[in-house]
Amino acid sequence: MTRYHPVLVVMHWLLALMILGGLIAGKFVLAATPSDDPFKLTSLQMHMSLGIAILALMVVRLIIRLTTSHPPHADIGNVFLNRMAVLAHWALYLLVFGMCASGLAMANMAGLPAIVFGGSGDPLPADFSVFPPRAAHGAIAALLVLLIAGHALAAFYHQFARGDGLLSRMWFGDRHG
Ligand code: HEM
Ligand code: HEM
Repeated sequence: MTRYHPVLVVMHWLLALMILGGLIAGKFVLAATPSDDPFKLTSLQMHMSLGIAILALMVVRLIIRLTTSHPPHADIGNVFLNRMAVLAHWALYLLVFGMCASGLAMANMAGLPAIVFGGSGDPLPADFSVFPPRAAHGAIAALLVLLIAGHALAAFYHQFARGDGLLSRMWFGDRHG
């Protein structure tokens, strides 16, 4: 087996775009918009819908990942680094699920489902930091940014420094050649 299943490939790159979009818009648009700005509600609608879609797609992707055959783990000749790579891949799942869980917990504590999707008309909380999951959401976001940067750098190291064509494992083509 030389490549991941094509459905996993599509979902990997789609989820990468969605997660990076959620991180950037969450930090620079949503969190930067005060609660008394009329745009806050729209921004929350977009962010929460995106977050829930990411959660659903990640669950589906994980099930497909666990039930399809995939290439053996890349070997760079160092047992420690090989183990770290496996760990980093599972940590990516864990941190994305952590973002979704802390986001949902914060939203529920703040009564957001009724305000944002139910049109209750109740005012938004002035500051989300009074809800403990808000701090977790921000901290996990910072860790996820670092891990994604490391993950992309590692992929480029494989592809360009080692020249082992690792990127093609997460792309389309003959899986058995
Ligand atoms: C932005 C969020 C991203 C997430 C959450 C993510 C997640 C993952 C995970 C969990 C795997 C392990 C295989 C699996 O379980 O399906 C993987 C593999 C891979 N990713 Fe990402 N990824 C992201 C972004 C990127 C980026 C930006 C690149 C490249 C620049 C990249 C390149 C790759 C490659 C080449 C593999 C295959 C590695 C191998 O075969 O060992 N990923 N990714
Ligand atoms: C992978 C999915 C998600 C990503 C990448 C993400 C990303 C972010 C980021 C980067 C921030 C700003 C953090 C900071 O400035 O410290 C944020 C804030 C927030 N997120 Fe998420 N999020 C995700 C899922 C969710 C979900 C599922 C919900 C709720 C259903 C949610 C609700 C919120 C709320 C209420 C805020 C606070 C806004 C504020 O402080 O004004 N997020 N998110």
